[in-house]
Amino acid sequence: MRTAICPGSFDPVTLGHMDIISRARKIFDHVIVAVLVNPTKNTAFTLEERIELLKRCTSGMDDVEVVGFDGLLADYARVRGATAIVKGLRAMSDFEYEFQMSLFNKKLNPELETVFLNTTAENMFLSSSGVKQIACFGGDISNFVPGIILDDIQRRLCTGGKQNECG
Ligand code: PNS
Repeated sequence: MRTAICPGSFDPVTLGHMDIISRARKIFDHVIVAVLVNPTKNTAFTLEERIELLKRCTSGMDDVEVVGFDGLLADYARVRGATAIVKGLRAMSDFEYEFQMSLFNKKLNPELETVFLNTTAENMFLSSSGVKQIACFGGDISNFVPGIILDDIQRRLCTGGKQNECG
């Protein structure tokens, strides 16, 4: 059985993330969506909230599991017997950072491959931080996040831009 990990902050999960997760599942037998700590980011949603939102969005998908992990991705992949990391690439601007991460992960766990999937044209611009900013100012995010979590995200972030969660 081939297992892949889709890692990320998912703060919050977007339709772009969902597209990458479902395409990863077409390639691999089992997909672990790992909500990891990115030390360079302050998140608007807690780890538990991000996991819960993702679990709801993936509940209809067979062999897709959502977990939280605070540690190195390369170590977690080894523990879970995953052979690949799957990440979405939106534009060249993503590439430099993702390329560096893939080289770090390869050094830390030589058995682990990183597979990049390019995003679809309609998701090229989509980011969690953009979604948060639009929601904070009361804008319409229905085209950017799964409908099943839309109300929760809006309720949580729609403050008229008065809170500093507009990351
Ligand atoms: O969605 P993001 O924030 O771009 O995802 C980045 C993430 C969480 C995948 C990355 O920060 C990560 O792998 N964090 C775990 C710690 C780790 O393994 N770092 C890589 C070695 S520098």
